[in-house]
Amino acid sequence: MHHFHYKQDELYCEEIPVSEVVREVGTPLYLYSHATLRQHFRAFDDSFSGLKHLTCFSMKSNPNLAILRLFANEGGGVDIVSGGELFRALKAGVNPGKIVYSGVGKTGEDLEFALKSDILLFNVESTQEMSKLNDTAAKLGRKARVAIRINPDVDPKTHPYISTGLRENKFGIDIRQAPGQYALAAGMANLVVSGVSCHIGSQLTQISPFVDALKKLKELIVDLKKTGTRIEYLDLGGGLGITYDREEPPHPREYGQAIREELGDTPLTLIFEPGRVIMGNAGILVTRVLYTKTTEGKTFIIVDAAMNDLMRPCLYNSYHRIQPVKISNRPLVVADIVGPICESADFLAKAREVQTYQPGELMAVMSAGAYGFSMSSNYNSRPRAAEVMVKSDRFFVIRNRETFEDLTRGEAIPDFLTMPSP
Ligand code: LLP
Repeated sequence: MHHFHYKQDELYCEEIPVSEVVREVGTPLYLYSHATLRQHFRAFDDSFSGLKHLTCFSMKSNPNLAILRLFANEGGGVDIVSGGELFRALKAGVNPGKIVYSGVGKTGEDLEFALKSDILLFNVESTQEMSKLNDTAAKLGRKARVAIRINPDVDPKTHPYISTGLRENKFGIDIRQAPGQYALAAGMANLVVSGVSCHIGSQLTQISPFVDALKKLKELIVDLKKTGTRIEYLDLGGGLGITYDREEPPHPREYGQAIREELGDTPLTLIFEPGRVIMGNAGILVTRVLYTKTTEGKTFIIVDAAMNDLMRPCLYNSYHRIQPVKISNRPLVVADIVGPICESADFLAKAREVQTYQPGELMAVMSAGAYGFSMSSNYNSRPRAAEVMVKSDRFFVIRNRETFEDLTRGEAIPDFLTMPSP
């Protein structure tokens, strides 16, 4: 469910015509619906009602301060993977007691920052990281609550770039080594062993891999208990998929039900790290057609958004629905939707049947709320897009479009490079 819909051939976000926002803010533009975001967060969180749990939004999917504030106001925490994300989360007002930190390469500085901030849980992914965390905590006179991120060797049946729970992936600690690693952690004076964590991949469209992983984690927790290790938190990561095209992923409710059936009455506090399932269909990328051209047997629609704005199609060959901001009754055409960047990888859609567009017309790239803006760059010295949040019949710019000045901020020319003579 989302709040992007047509009224008399015009695409609206909640109560506002998309074209009205564009008139003020321009293109390319990320547009998010507040009602959709809130509804998705609540639908996810409510799926686990009755279980002790914490929903930690995976902010890598969209780290905008306004988005983080919205979920914090709903009682959510966040899942972070860097010091930069921690900085943003604190700035947005997220309670540090609701922050969990994953990632295979946490730096010493980042660990220090997180320790000083007193976050809820460090999901440790290697023995060396564990020692470093212990040493850093000792230096600061603090204790770190840790979970070991387990690699359960389960195939999430998704794109290989976003599979994380297979033995061949760099993530987590092999489940067969876990008991030994827990014993090691228990012997470290500045670590408090508190949890087990796991994240097997993203855009999962079936429940069975989640359940397979959970079964393995349950066995591990039972084994750990036998050796006197008390586990309080079970962090099951994110990964629930969404419909981009024709996928039929489970509803969070079904996911919640499956977890409930597997865990029964559990004393554990569950942690979830959803990103895409909350953000993905709550945002669109709006772009303007610059030119169209037809070469032998091929039509190109050249738009002002590019792979620097939305990298997913070129990186994963992923599908995003293309919809007109104003529906016309012109004939359909099969076209490649491409951006202005100097690479053939710069496409938003390939061989797509769309309505015929004319220069100046607007197009919406759907399901772009997750991993859209957050993966954008300045490639080809393109200022990054503006971001806008719509609430009912009002809209707010939550990130200004970058300017040319922004592009060179922080750059310097050394004095031995004198001005070229005219
Ligand atoms: N927790 C951890 C430790 C993660 O690594 C991720 C995503 C999540 C939670 C959130 O997963 P989600 O609920 O969003 O599936 N750029 C890719 C997706 C990369 C996902 C990386 N990790 C894409 O555009 O599809």
